[in-house]
Amino acid sequence: MDQIKNLSLLSAMCENVNSAITVTNPATGHVLGYVPSHSRETIENVIAKAEIAQRSWAKTTAKQRADILMSWYQLLMDNQEDLARIMTLEQGKPLAESRGEVAYGASFVQWFAEEAKRAYGETIPTPSSDRRIMTITQPVGVAAAITPWNFPIAMITRKAAPAIAAGCSFIAKPAAQTPLSAYAVTELARQAGLPEGLLNIVTSDDAVMVGELFCSSDKINKISFTGSTNVGRILMRQSAESVKRVSMELGGNAPFIVFDDADIDLAVKGAIASKFRNAGQTCVCANRFYVHDAVYDKFVEKFAAEVATLTVGNGIDNGVNVGPLIDANAKNKVQRLVEEAVAQGATISIGGEDLDGQFFTPTVLTHVQHSMSIVQEEIFGPIAPVIRFHDDASLIEMANDTIYGLASYFYSKDINRIFAVAEALDYGMVGVNEGVISTEVAPFGGVKQSGIGREGARQGLDEYLNTKYICLGGM
Ligand code: SIN
Repeated sequence: MDQIKNLSLLSAMCENVNSAITVTNPATGHVLGYVPSHSRETIENVIAKAEIAQRSWAKTTAKQRADILMSWYQLLMDNQEDLARIMTLEQGKPLAESRGEVAYGASFVQWFAEEAKRAYGETIPTPSSDRRIMTITQPVGVAAAITPWNFPIAMITRKAAPAIAAGCSFIAKPAAQTPLSAYAVTELARQAGLPEGLLNIVTSDDAVMVGELFCSSDKINKISFTGSTNVGRILMRQSAESVKRVSMELGGNAPFIVFDDADIDLAVKGAIASKFRNAGQTCVCANRFYVHDAVYDKFVEKFAAEVATLTVGNGIDNGVNVGPLIDANAKNKVQRLVEEAVAQGATISIGGEDLDGQFFTPTVLTHVQHSMSIVQEEIFGPIAPVIRFHDDASLIEMANDTIYGLASYFYSKDINRIFAVAEALDYGMVGVNEGVISTEVAPFGGVKQSGIGREGARQGLDEYLNTKYICLGGM
């Protein structure tokens, strides 16, 4: 932490280790510091204050909200290096990726500063001449979010920025592993002039209590969650009682398909980026690779050769491409999946080594069958299982054979096939000849059990707005 220049970013850290969350560096196991573990009563107070703050915020103009968001964006970028270092220290991802995430996270703030001014209503042609019909949009009220450890900044700004832009107040509970980034970006929002009570972080070692409190509170009008499908189901069930609006960005099992007409070098480049970003701990990571029989050997050879160049280590060190897994549970899961795959007949083409601490070598598995657990489960680690396929029809069937529908990727040069496959894939997002597709301007989200709602893009603002229909009669 002594590398951080702007100490105001660490102002939420506390000395009192009783009733606190310990934040550790996953690369070294060292304690970085402590943040408060808030009680139920404290969080209820935060919700009550957020409700009061929202009422005044809703009365501001879109331009006033946009100006503050723009200042926040600027401060995020001005503090990019410090924020990136905090992120790498608590989350583990390589510093270059953390810098990228700060810019990605800030891009949502900039985007929604612009979109705030476009929360348009409509006038609608009237069916009777004595009436005029119109709609206006209004903020949903208090929005709450539960955010994950894999993108400690971007998953907060992607939710908070549209909420603030729409005129909502916002409360986030970040993952217990990565609270420092959450507090740091919130402090910058305060410095940007965001009034008190509008952007709140609560931290607790009792995630179940916070989830239940958010979902049951009748002061909170909207829940946004990024995390596992299992937890998403629980939050949706809990939100049903108060009929809350929900946005859910849940698990994925992304297929990465290489057709026989693909540019293999491009596919290898996309595969490396998609699979090994954040050590494979990304909801949109390529989870399973399907490669056509005619190019299978060539792809595997080039892919394994590229994987061999990746450097595993502490993300703060120069030249590291793959950091640690977030905790021991994550590493145990990866180990189990590799062991099961090998026992079921898969071959380790490269990697497969269990390194000290929470590190695992980037791994390519061949002789993989679609039915294996490593293909059916979300891996969330640096393992690439590669399956051979023979024809497009059975390929599409396998690619869609999952409860998940978040991201998918394929490589082909044939324009007819490109449209046919993009339309046939049952996913919210399709990357064609591209392995990393996330951007603030495009709608991010899934179908099936990968979630509900969209983040980023113009659709991201709608998630925090209600549409009100106004009928003007007696004309
Ligand atoms: C996620 O893994 O949930 C987010 C990834 C992204 O925004 O690219």
